[in-house]
Amino acid sequence: MVKMKLVKWVPLILAVVLLGFIGHGSHASFTPVDNYLIACGSSKNVTFLGHTFVPDLVQSSISLKSQGNSIVATSNSSAPFAVYQSARVFPGTASYKFGIEQEGRHWVRLYFYPLPDSGHNLTSASMTVITENFVLLNNFSFKNYNGSYMFKEYAINVTSDSLTVTFIPSNNSVAFINAIEVVSVPDELIPDQALALSPSGPFSGLSEFALETVYRLNMGGPLLTAENDTLGRTWENDEKYLHVNSSAVSVSVSPATIQYRAAATPQIGPNWVYATAQTMGNSNVANSNFNITWVFPVDPNFTYFVRYHFCDIMSVSMNTLVFNLYINSDLAFGSLDLSTLTGYLAAPYYKDFVSNSSADTDTLTISVGPDTRADFINALLNGLEIMKINNEARSLDGISPVETLLVSQPSKKNKMGIIIGSVVGASAALVFISLCYCFLVARRSKTPQQGSTWLPLPLYGNSQTMTKMSTTSQKSGTASCISLASSNLGRLFMFQEIMDATNKFDESLLLGVGGFGRVYKGTLEDGTKVAVKRGNPRSEQGLAEFRTEIEMLSKLRHRHLVSLIGYCDERSEMILVYEYMANGPLRSHLYGTDLPPLSWKQRLEICIGAARGLHYLHTGAAQSIIHRDVKTTNILLDENFVAKVADFGLSKAGPAIDQTHVSTAVKGSFGYLDPEYFRRQQLTEKSDVYSFGVVLMEVLCTRPALNPVLPREQVNIAEWAMSWQKKGMLDQIMDSNLAGKVNPTSLKKFGETAEKCLAEHGVDRPSMGDVLWNLEYALQLEETSSALTEPEDNSTNHIPGIPLTPLEPFDNSLSMIDGVNSGTDADAEDAATSAVFSQLVNPRGR
Ligand SMILES: *[C@@H]1O[C@H](CO)[C@@H](O)[C@H](O)[C@H]1NC(C)=O
Ligand SMILES: *[C@@H]1O[C@H](CO)[C@@H](O)[C@H](O)[C@H]1NC(C)=O
Ligand SMILES: *[C@@H]1O[C@H](CO)[C@@H](O)[C@H](O)[C@H]1NC(C)=O
Ligand SMILES: *[C@@H]1O[C@H](CO)[C@@H](O)[C@H](O)[C@H]1NC(C)=O
Repeated sequence: MVKMKLVKWVPLILAVVLLGFIGHGSHASFTPVDNYLIACGSSKNVTFLGHTFVPDLVQSSISLKSQGNSIVATSNSSAPFAVYQSARVFPGTASYKFGIEQEGRHWVRLYFYPLPDSGHNLTSASMTVITENFVLLNNFSFKNYNGSYMFKEYAINVTSDSLTVTFIPSNNSVAFINAIEVVSVPDELIPDQALALSPSGPFSGLSEFALETVYRLNMGGPLLTAENDTLGRTWENDEKYLHVNSSAVSVSVSPATIQYRAAATPQIGPNWVYATAQTMGNSNVANSNFNITWVFPVDPNFTYFVRYHFCDIMSVSMNTLVFNLYINSDLAFGSLDLSTLTGYLAAPYYKDFVSNSSADTDTLTISVGPDTRADFINALLNGLEIMKINNEARSLDGISPVETLLVSQPSKKNKMGIIIGSVVGASAALVFISLCYCFLVARRSKTPQQGSTWLPLPLYGNSQTMTKMSTTSQKSGTASCISLASSNLGRLFMFQEIMDATNKFDESLLLGVGGFGRVYKGTLEDGTKVAVKRGNPRSEQGLAEFRTEIEMLSKLRHRHLVSLIGYCDERSEMILVYEYMANGPLRSHLYGTDLPPLSWKQRLEICIGAARGLHYLHTGAAQSIIHRDVKTTNILLDENFVAKVADFGLSKAGPAIDQTHVSTAVKGSFGYLDPEYFRRQQLTEKSDVYSFGVVLMEVLCTRPALNPVLPREQVNIAEWAMSWQKKGMLDQIMDSNLAGKVNPTSLKKFGETAEKCLAEHGVDRPSMGDVLWNLEYALQLEETSSALTEPEDNSTNHIPGIPLTPLEPFDNSLSMIDGVNSGTDADAEDAATSAVFSQLVNPRGR
């Protein structure tokens, strides 16, 4: 929180004097179009940190409406700064409305100080502060606050010609405010997209969210105040957040040394921020391999926007400083080489991420640590910003949306209420589109399906919310919504049953921990073994994924898809109960564990199973479904090593018949992400095909999709394996356990299949059906060869005499496909698959 305690005055004033003295003219300035700085209740101009705050009622573009007359409170002696010397006190709901000339993000800065000698008991005042769309403060009171005054900064995208800030007193008290700023922010300051972590993937649509500054730090440097920052921001020193004080050594250069090149501008951060940094100190001491870590207490119920500011002010030559960034225990960015990114030394640079707090603590930890492959072991950080992102209720404080806060007021319906109500109503559509995880209803011409319905759980049981949601969907006509309760979604478990099944979530039964939450092994009363996935209730993303998973899985039944047995949503728990997969994720059989290596044939069978599952998703169901998170940890193996595709949390209905793609924010896992989807944000089934190509390479080479520890050209398996495949030398990088045990033609077919899946453009990639066919063929080649070399092995289902030259798909006979099919367990649920096979045999549209 950018809050300065009273004890901070002295360093503050010193810093201001110091910087005022040397800092002038050191950066280009930005002139905000909207620039309101008002001293509420004041009768005169007030100067604070070089800025003039004018009385609140002298500008015609600001209006104040209040229930009951507002009261002016002033104090001459006690206020910490001039800007806190007066206040306006409201006995009822009151709003300041600011005329906005230029739409876009604006700082909304609020200054509160409960003037002790004002004649009102402001310390016990309890208040809620909202804008038209967002909740800024909910029932805030100085009684429960450990500071003597409070400064809050928000960045809100205003998309109309005014912004209204409303103060609502609660608990029969009053509300008050000392000063307000509403100031334009340059558009480029906060991007629309940043990289989200755990699960990792691009996070789009930031511009729709309100942000609250919770920390803004100048690493290794002095406090910088509004006067020293062209955007009026405050940057604190970082030392009190350092995890181990001695881990960091601060360095500094003259701010004049800082050269803004391409990446950052003086608006992104003043040169004072970039001219100082925390580093690991003398890089060549023994055992210098550690991280510098900062720990920030945060509200775990929110997601945060994190910006790292860098400027290499310590290297003497280019490309010597290479280091890693972490958020919590996640690698946020590996092998960051500033000089390559900026082309210069001492050139500011920044990187943005979106992250939750760490799973078990109410903190966000930020670390920088050396990349051990670099020439010098060191790392640095110059500045850091952490901003809270509003939640689903469009709130930055609590879970009540603006609507309920206004409604809960005992007020008579007066003029004010109506004004605010209508503004709120107008923006409701936007609110609920973001609340609502509605899918496009795609209809396949062959199987017209009425009322495919996809809809979220009611959020916080707010009936008003639900009503608005359905209105939205009717209007748009593209989506239709129902609540979960009204559809058949498998068994609804009581929380107690889950507790019994998992022995109260016994940690010894823990099967895994993922972005969504923890997975436990459980045993139901009737002895059925199950996997119990318990969502992290703090994860907002989790809620949407929880719904999606239930809705998707309850509609789908297939031998190669993990079945959902039921769910539990009692006490705001998000628990999913699945069939138990005894052999766990495919990945654990490839690397990183002591499990015995899989044979080539087993690997092919597993890939074929997974391909069947995906093929069914794409074409077998009434509505095409795109998985979006195909990876080796989402392919699970049962006790017989039958592969099943799991984790439908990110799945999306595919494009309707008359569309070619679904436009969507990019989600998924790095290393598996289709580059075309990433660039164009247009989702098709071919994005899953790409990810599956990565899986194939992983199965062959037994290494992670991304391994930042490897030399640069090897980091990404897709690039690395493709370069060897193109040379026809994939066997050089394959799992050494397979050496000499793979039929070369089978390997060749497999390599070609993976290569096609990894094609740059979706149109050049095969369908999952083609992939399946090719893998079946690779298996045939393997079995045939083993049959030829080991004639005693008669148990395999091979077709004797199959030509060993690779064939193109579809110029083949039916019998071969039948042969494969008869070899697998073609039970009733594979009916959909046989429909698929008939398409394969008689492909249309090729
Ligand atoms: C107060 O400040 C405003 C803006 O800086 C200025 O236009 C105005 O003249 C000032 N008023 C007084 C009384 O100094
Ligand atoms: C503000 O929101 C509008 C509408 O969503 C968007 O077009 C615009 O780019 C946003 N501006 C910023 C600076 O984020
Ligand atoms: C997070 O939300 C939960 C449930 O709404 C609430 O009980 C808890 O106090 C919140 N945590 C914080 C730190 O506000
Ligand atoms: C730095 O922190 C990350 C995340 O917690 C951890 O994975 C890594 O091993 C740490 N590096 C060192 C050198 O301690």
